[in-house]
Amino acid sequence: MSRFAEPQDPVFRELNTSLGFDRRLWREDLDQSRAHATMLAARGIIAEGERDELLRGLDAVAAELEGGTFPFAPDDEDVHMAVERRLTELVGAVGGKLHTARSRNDQVATDVALWTRGAVDRALGHLRDLQHALVDAAERHLDWPLPGYTHLQRAQPVYLSHHLLAYFWMLERDRTRLEAVRAATEVLPLGAGALAGTNFDIDRRMVAEQLGFSTVAPNSIDAVANRDFVVDFISAAATCATHLSRLGAEVVLWASSEFGFLVLPDAWSSGSSIMPQKKNPDAAELLRAKAPRIAGHLTALLGVQHALPLTYNKDLQEDKEHLFDAADTLELVLQAATGMVAGARFDRERMAAAASDDLIAATDVADHLVKLGVPFRECHGVVAGLVRTAVESGRGLGDLRDDELRAAHPKLEPADVRGLLVQSSWLESKASEGGTALARVREQLEQARALL
Ligand code: ARG
Repeated sequence: MSRFAEPQDPVFRELNTSLGFDRRLWREDLDQSRAHATMLAARGIIAEGERDELLRGLDAVAAELEGGTFPFAPDDEDVHMAVERRLTELVGAVGGKLHTARSRNDQVATDVALWTRGAVDRALGHLRDLQHALVDAAERHLDWPLPGYTHLQRAQPVYLSHHLLAYFWMLERDRTRLEAVRAATEVLPLGAGALAGTNFDIDRRMVAEQLGFSTVAPNSIDAVANRDFVVDFISAAATCATHLSRLGAEVVLWASSEFGFLVLPDAWSSGSSIMPQKKNPDAAELLRAKAPRIAGHLTALLGVQHALPLTYNKDLQEDKEHLFDAADTLELVLQAATGMVAGARFDRERMAAAASDDLIAATDVADHLVKLGVPFRECHGVVAGLVRTAVESGRGLGDLRDDELRAAHPKLEPADVRGLLVQSSWLESKASEGGTALARVREQLEQARALL
């Protein structure tokens, strides 16, 4: 019998079905059902023989899904109903006992929590690979100077190792966020029933333990309405992808003829359909462009949950496509970033040439005067005047004459100033903790290695 006198409108059916995307949850759904059946028998809610039949049937369903022979039916609204229908076909009426003390509401929340946990673990693995690649690249280019930029104008020179490690630390924060998401996926919704709990004496702790949850959701209403862990995952993914977009943007710039700081490996480049000379950094460009896509999923899912009355509403079915695409995209960009970082060939000369323009040491000259007791603001003005004189006459700071230096400030000894303008001294003077001096970068590298 059915509650309904007429069949569903085909358009409604198309709108309502989630099978096209939620079939990706089948492993989690089967794991959950095995744990649920085992618990039902342990509590005497079903017989042990019935449990065995159910487990046998679930194995058969798993084999079909694994082998691609599972017969999906046009009436299967979602993966949960498809599995139960097929199970009943395979084992008979006892299949109908699996859904005892369970609703699709707590079932789907549990599957999604399990799936999100797996996605977190995969992302963490790729993230670690990228961190390794960054640390290795930093070690290979420990003392290679290049300009550090603000406003994309040459600001102060840094070592490439230092610059690469900046990304390591961004990713380390991403890792912390993902670990927190993982913890949020370890609270078991199952046992909440439709929303109010169940009429059976179930053992939620037992199910939690079997499925790797550390605790059970304390409130059944919250349990079926909650998708915070999905929001948290997509948020962490969006932040991580945004970090990679900055890396991608730098790779695009650095691979240009204008910069020429690096050459990408052929395996991470593509050609042009019309210009034979072109070698395009498409992968790096896509690192830039994929980040807002994940941010869009975050915005969309927050929108889905905005002002949503408790508890389950069909709106929540929309969590999955945002989750899946965010997870897939994050995995892709993490792996692509790793490939490019590991394979990029940096050009020591090009970078050094860009960092050898001695205007980049203007701060060092100002700080020299500060150390002689001149207030920093005044020093800034003095050196700004020197820079202007140099630039207007097409010279560097080191080319200024003694009288020009002395005229700028009586405490400015030409010999001292020229001593400051010796190439690598600009880097080695940045010896404060976290600075670019080699000793400090080595400290950073050690910290990074220890974390890995
Ligand atoms: N396909 C649904 C989803 O993904 C499953 C839950 C259905 N629950 C319900 N009460 N209709 O959200």
